[in-house]
Amino acid sequence: MIEYRSLKIALLGAGSVGSQVAKLLIDNADELAARVGAGLELVGIAVRDPDAPRRVALPRELFTTDARSLILSADIVIELMGGVDPAREYVLLALNSGADVITGNKALLAEHGAQLFAVAEQVGAQLYYEAAVGGAIPIIRPLRDSLAGDRVERILGIVNGTTNFILDRMDTSGDTLEDALEVATELGYAERSDPAADVEGYDAAAKAAILAGLAFHTTVPLESVHREGITGITKEQVDAAREGGYVIKLLAICERVAADDGSEGVSARVYPALVPRQHPLAAVRGVHNAVFVQAAAAGDLMFYGAGAGGLQTASAVLGDVVSAARRHVVGGPGVAESTHADVPVLEIGAVRTRYQITLRVTDAPGVLSRIASIFATNEVSVETVTQTVASEQEPGVASGAIPARREPLPATATLVIGTHEAFESALAATVDTLRASDEVVAVTSVLRVEGV
Ligand code: NDP
Ligand code: HSE
Repeated sequence: MIEYRSLKIALLGAGSVGSQVAKLLIDNADELAARVGAGLELVGIAVRDPDAPRRVALPRELFTTDARSLILSADIVIELMGGVDPAREYVLLALNSGADVITGNKALLAEHGAQLFAVAEQVGAQLYYEAAVGGAIPIIRPLRDSLAGDRVERILGIVNGTTNFILDRMDTSGDTLEDALEVATELGYAERSDPAADVEGYDAAAKAAILAGLAFHTTVPLESVHREGITGITKEQVDAAREGGYVIKLLAICERVAADDGSEGVSARVYPALVPRQHPLAAVRGVHNAVFVQAAAAGDLMFYGAGAGGLQTASAVLGDVVSAARRHVVGGPGVAESTHADVPVLEIGAVRTRYQITLRVTDAPGVLSRIASIFATNEVSVETVTQTVASEQEPGVASGAIPARREPLPATATLVIGTHEAFESALAATVDTLRASDEVVAVTSVLRVEGV
């Protein structure tokens, strides 16, 4: 039997992901040692409560509340606590002690990545984070290494499993958003303590910042990511999308944007959008994630799989552990993050996109042409218009009921207007003018269209 030298591994956190990482490190110790050329010895697990019941049976003697001493004893530190504090302090302590660090903490990276990567570079350590985006899906390494010689133009990602599960339930089971969120919470997908992180798009925005930074070799601050969640999405919008051949998905979009003066910027944004049913992302169901990458030479690539889950995410963490351990065996400095391009991150208004706008308007001569002129005045070109005349029975009057006597209401029609690509600022101004128009009874839906 080969005697390997041993590398000391410290684990911070033993929740959904950490407990599975610990189990894999212990159960697969021999195989991992053979792959790395060194033993991987789990020397301790820092938690808040060492006696709390765990999902996975782990040796009690490994648990400690003294994270700092544990960190200082390790060659490799795995941070799976979540949150920004004290995770940031612990990661800095680990890097400054010369340890390589592995984290799945997108919130920490999106807020403090620049500082952490700078420290790692300074001390010659490496910060790995494959689990931070897309759970089990390999996407960080493909962007950082496999596509390092290509030019990534655009990324369209479904990077939050909880919201994808909710939107999928609304589409396939007819659930309201509230019902679907309740199921997602019962199944353990949505954060019980902070559902806003998922449904308001904060989690996806952090992931968009990480992906855009990697893809465009630029620092993308979290504050520069435009974010809209799914809490405004109604069952009516989901049903109308289905009838129109679309599905609504919460998308993280990172793309290069050409400015009028010929210079280049990048955009990172998160919002719910209509995606054509035939687009590969439309087939991503339930809690699954997928990242669709368009690169100049490689063309279209799609990365798909489990975006969350303790065991699934542990796979990505273990991949990073093996990479870090191999670097320790071979030696040499860590590879710095590449932010040399330093491209400006543009406001949402500078982005070109398409809208689908649903309006209820008074059904009278000349209304359609006046609505069309609002689009024209704002330099938005209309691509499609569908009109449905409202039924004579007003909503709220149950069939068979005798309505109270009243003045007849003006006839209304529903218009569904699809636009060509236009600047977001122009589209937003168009919607504002429509809302203020006397002939528009209600703007019932405004959704962007992506993937066409
Ligand atoms: P959990 O909430 O399940 O577990 C967190 C763990 O960290 C617990 O063991 C907790 O200790 C410990 N912990 C928290 N705060 C402290 C502290 N101040 N000091 C010491 N220990 C602490 O988190 P997850 O496993 O779900 O997630 C871990 C990380 O992985 C997060 O950054 C998350 O975003 C990321 N991630 C998670 C995925 C998932 O599917 N769950 C998918 C992809 C990434 P105790 O047990 O004593 O309370
Ligand atoms: N809350 C996240 C999700 C977990 O639903 O995708 C994985 O980052």
